Amino acid sequence: MLVVEDLTKTFGANTAVDRVSFTVEKPMMIGIIGRSGAGKSTFLRMMNRLTDATSGQLSFEGRDVLGLTGRARREWQSDCAMIFQQFNLVPRMDVVSNVLHGTLGRSSTLATMFNLFPKDDIHRAIDILERLGIADHAPKRAEALSGGQQQRVAIARALMQDPKIILADEPIASLDPMNAQTVMEALRRIFEEDGRMVIANLHTLDTARRYCDRVIGMRDGRIVFDGSPDQLTTGVARDIYGAGADFSEAATSTSIDAIETPALRAIHEAEAIV
Ligand SMILES: Nc1ncnc2c1ncn2[C@@H]1O[C@H](COP(=O)(O)OP(=O)(O)O)[C@@H](O)[C@H]1O
Ligand SMILES: [Mg+2]
Repeated sequence: MLVVEDLTKTFGANTAVDRVSFTVEKPMMIGIIGRSGAGKSTFLRMMNRLTDATSGQLSFEGRDVLGLTGRARREWQSDCAMIFQQFNLVPRMDVVSNVLHGTLGRSSTLATMFNLFPKDDIHRAIDILERLGIADHAPKRAEALSGGQQQRVAIARALMQDPKIILADEPIASLDPMNAQTVMEALRRIFEEDGRMVIANLHTLDTARRYCDRVIGMRDGRIVFDGSPDQLTTGVARDIYGAGADFSEAATSTSIDAIETPALRAIHEAEAIV
């Protein structure tokens, strides 16, 4: 379904993504973990064609993604919607209009300028907001919502594109534990209920373990781990994050831990890396 082969991106002398290869056979939720600077964002940006790869291949459902140009490239960007750490909403615009901007590729410029959207799209936007539990906020300005609610608006905007893949770049890095959980659960449900592939960059391994079917660990631009959450042992985590003096459990866990269950806490303690 998704085939990545020797994908590489260099910035001058710096190799941000270094011959990354992996294959995904069917939709699943994939977490990409690794330290800051490991190349996670650059990988997602190449996949979404926001950044051109230096070399390598990437194909989805047999289509050569890196070779797409013009309209085909824009259609691909619509097929793999991107969600960002900072939500990227228009703060002063109401929630439903923000969501409707997910149809931007389809609407005429003039209609968009005046926020004139087809009735069907408006209904669909409300349905999606309802599904994400935030329909009540539809008329409010985006900036009036909590971070977790704003991220769900961003997810709703992505869903308006009816994407095959959702790429999420550190979607919970700015959120408190409760909001982080709500957002990760929303992404998980979108995979399970709609069968959309989700690829999320997560800088912490506990979140990846909890929500993802497969975890890819990156270090210095390379894949150093690719497996199921239960294969993510202490040794593997050390390899991904490096076993330097500054390495601690804190560097690898989100505050989601604060609301973990006693059973999960026991697992974490057993695996704690200090
Ligand atoms: N636009 C850019 N220009 C130059 N270097 C960049 C650019 N974007 C990323 N890098 C470098 O590429 C490497 C990987 O960065 P990034 O993909 O953002 O990592 P991550 O998302 O894992 O934190 C880092 O060394 C970073 O400094
Ligand atoms: Mg990043």
